[in-house]
Amino acid sequence: MKNKDKNISKSTYVVHASTDPLSHHGIVNVPVYHTSTILKPNLDDYRNSRGKYDYGRIGTPTSEASEKAVAELYQMDDAVATPSGLSAISLGILGVLSSGDHALFPDSMYGSGRRFVEHILPRIGVSFDFYDPQTSVEDLSSMISDQTALIYLESPGSQTFEMQDIPAIVRLAHDRNCLVACDNTWATAFYFNANAHNIDVVIEAGTKYISGHSDVSIGYVVSNGATAKQIRQYAKLNGICVAPDDHYLTLRGMRTMRVRLLASQENALAVASWLQDQPEVIAMRHPALPSHPGHHHWKRDFTGSSGLFSFMLNPEIPFSAIDAMVDGLALFGIGDSWGGHESLINQAKIKRSITNLPAGTLLRIYTGIEDKDDLINDLTAGMERLRKAMT
Ligand SMILES: Cc1ncc(COP(=O)(O)O)c(C=O)c1O
Repeated sequence: MKNKDKNISKSTYVVHASTDPLSHHGIVNVPVYHTSTILKPNLDDYRNSRGKYDYGRIGTPTSEASEKAVAELYQMDDAVATPSGLSAISLGILGVLSSGDHALFPDSMYGSGRRFVEHILPRIGVSFDFYDPQTSVEDLSSMISDQTALIYLESPGSQTFEMQDIPAIVRLAHDRNCLVACDNTWATAFYFNANAHNIDVVIEAGTKYISGHSDVSIGYVVSNGATAKQIRQYAKLNGICVAPDDHYLTLRGMRTMRVRLLASQENALAVASWLQDQPEVIAMRHPALPSHPGHHHWKRDFTGSSGLFSFMLNPEIPFSAIDAMVDGLALFGIGDSWGGHESLINQAKIKRSITNLPAGTLLRIYTGIEDKDDLINDLTAGMERLRKAMT
């Protein structure tokens, strides 16, 4: 960017973030520095760690460009890149907790994050409880003890899309001296302003919308002030780093993040509206639909919706008919992850300890940036296969 204009919109910001062509012979994109060793001109400079960069693992112009772009997009002090979204979850949690602490996690937390909590926290002497993401502030308050140091949010929740009352939970947490971490992967910095909502630790799986092309695994932990310093130090001590090509691909993906998000959002709303009119669909879980139970929270706190949502099919529909529908889809791949250019579908695998789901088959859809009419035509043919399989 030629002039660092602080008032530009996020849409413009991502196009130019961290670019500095005049320092790189006019080359538009940030160069990829492959390195472990970084040489010093003499032993005295080495002895005193003089110079901006010391060692590839700790930071290079490439890693710095990607981390700075994400930190500035969130208008927060620092973003530490991690090798996956899951490792951003673990860094965001371990970076701020110590043995003897207690933490609270929503029952609808992303499944692999939940497994991390269940398996790793007991080994380091951190106790935890899962809470109902839609619980009242009073009930949540009763779960906080003097040892509680962190309340974790994920809104909407993974697969089931429960919306949380974020401002009320943040107020409660800060009144009780707890930090708040939030997995903001669904909304991204574009659709939920985590800094304005006083989130202390923002976690985003850059694997999804930031990199955006289903070919990179990366995460970011974004924070301010002393918390940011603590997380950066924890990452450094643990040798957490990301390969330069992945930083490069993520920055390249970020340039088109805004337009991809808009297309993905539009497609999801069109597909979800079509699905909710199908008699086999007994429930929709898309926060931007007025029928969604947490729609009022989404409307109050968010400025857009992404391409990920789920819907529930009548429990009387056998798997054989659902398989006939899904297996024959031409445009929806069957698999994990989301946030790329292409549409996906899978069946939600859910583990909950204190909340229950109604009976039915929950399918999760991610709409990419294809033409929405093509996506709906593909699903229409799928629904016809399902109906045929039931006759
Ligand atoms: C909400 C959410 N957070 C974090 C992750 C983890 O990201 P990654 O797959 O890069 O580890 C995912 C992955 O699906 C996710 O859906």
